Amino acid sequence: MDKTLTISYREYDRIDELAAGDRDLMERAIGATAAAYAPYSRFGVGAALRLKDGTVVCGSNQENAAYPSGLCAERTAIFAASAQRPEMRDYEALAIAGRDSGGTLCEASPCGACRQVLAEYEDLQGHPMRVICLLPGGRVRVFEGVKSLLPFAFGF
Ligand code: THU
Repeated sequence: MDKTLTISYREYDRIDELAAGDRDLMERAIGATAAAYAPYSRFGVGAALRLKDGTVVCGSNQENAAYPSGLCAERTAIFAASAQRPEMRDYEALAIAGRDSGGTLCEASPCGACRQVLAEYEDLQGHPMRVICLLPGGRVRVFEGVKSLLPFAFGF
């Protein structure tokens, strides 16, 4: 039996077209790129996660000379939030921004490993976590849930 999967998402031409809360979250993600430790790739990523109580937890990519030991911005943010606020493991939205080696803001789309991690927390909370990705030229792509980014996620 053939089956088809459709993925819906929304794009905006500018950050300030987003609803106020999401725009602020993206501004925080952009700000968080400044905290990236990325001497090897020279590609900075910032992530800002809004918890159910409105708190925002930021993360940035943290690299290491032993390359696989580093961690992406998205997982840095969500692991920090989960570790520091285990009672508030309920995430409304995550914004992600990239900054290239020349300092220009650019696209940042979560890698496969981050999608898997985000998918598990989304599953745990029982409702969708919006993912807001910066695109080139200040455009923005919004996914209403992690499932749109990782259908058929692994879980057991
Ligand atoms: N990176 C992230 O922080 N998030 C992603 O989803 C993709 C990649 C980081 C990892 C590494 O420090 C740099 O970007 C280049 O791959």
